[in-house]
Amino acid sequence: MPVLPATESAIAQAVAALQQGLPVGMPTETVYGLACDARSDLAVARVFAAKGRPSFNPLIVHVASLQAAQQLVQFDPLSLQLAQQFWPGPLTLVLKRRADCPISWLVSAGLDTLALRVPAHPLALRLLEAAAMPLAAPSANPSGRLSPTQADHVQFPDLSVVVLDGGPCAVGVESTVVRVVEGKAWLLRPGGLERAAIEQVAGPLAAPPATQVGHPGAAAAAESEPPRSPGQLLAHYAPHRPLRLDARQVSSQEALLAFGPQVLPGAGAVLNLSQRGDTTEAAAHLFSYLRALDREPFQAIAVMAIPHQGLGEAIRDRLTRAAVGAGPGPAPEP
Ligand code: TXA
Ligand code: MG
Repeated sequence: MPVLPATESAIAQAVAALQQGLPVGMPTETVYGLACDARSDLAVARVFAAKGRPSFNPLIVHVASLQAAQQLVQFDPLSLQLAQQFWPGPLTLVLKRRADCPISWLVSAGLDTLALRVPAHPLALRLLEAAAMPLAAPSANPSGRLSPTQADHVQFPDLSVVVLDGGPCAVGVESTVVRVVEGKAWLLRPGGLERAAIEQVAGPLAAPPATQVGHPGAAAAAESEPPRSPGQLLAHYAPHRPLRLDARQVSSQEALLAFGPQVLPGAGAVLNLSQRGDTTEAAAHLFSYLRALDREPFQAIAVMAIPHQGLGEAIRDRLTRAAVGAGPGPAPEP
């Protein structure tokens, strides 16, 4: 993939690609996205195809400002408060599409809602402004596989795209997805904005039951049921080797993803998510360290216990899904 440094000419090249309906690799503070013109069915279809993404799984739309978001969706009072407090930032809000919403229905996977956020990355904001269009961008990884947190992670077997290099992602896990229904906030996906911060504004967050593999989730849910995120497939984010969680011992055949000052002895290789036991630092390293450990000669990846505090909730969520989907062969089909 051509990786371009953050220059004006690189941005112009990316804008030209977007205007032609082609996807572009875009850095955000969470993970790299595969961005495209969210209004174009064809451009969005290319992104689904490049990712091998199940078509019922809707995409997040990125906009430059709250004002731009208000052109697309209807804000209830609590969602508005959350947007004012946390945008730009790693919070995605699911909101009702306006009747005149120009976004492709493919983005919403047929739902009458849209997931939106304003990314807190200067290069993403510059691209949004230069392109002057809403950008649909799922994480720039083949569906079900590890998310990219550096420009050179953006790799697709059947597609060459321009990737803007914004350096390593500061947050390292995807945005937190929240939906407000009748004044009550639901946590659809834990992510880069921690629960406690959102709860200070929204009160206790409700969580829908875990979506099972193969469950179409929100696409099939009735109005009275709790909202779900179709993307919360149980198997996701998977490396090629088996992944073992909450390891208390480790063998020399295994690579160890460690956490904290006391590293388990005996592993064939070790990467420590955070030596000082900080979940924010750990989230920033999560996907790149999993990638680095997913290699010969190791038979498996063992992961030490990660606490639930702070971004630990999102890290544990990703690791649990990775453990279900991990193993040789193609990414698990939901
Ligand atoms: O941090 C992020 O959110 C990254 C960067 C690139 O911004 N993007 C990302 O997008 O993770 P993606 O497409 O991999 O994840 C979108 C999530 C999925 O879990 C999807 O099911 C959910 O958002 N989602 C999208 N639209 C939805 C809707 N209308 N209702 C419920 N959930 C929705
Ligand atoms: Mg993803």
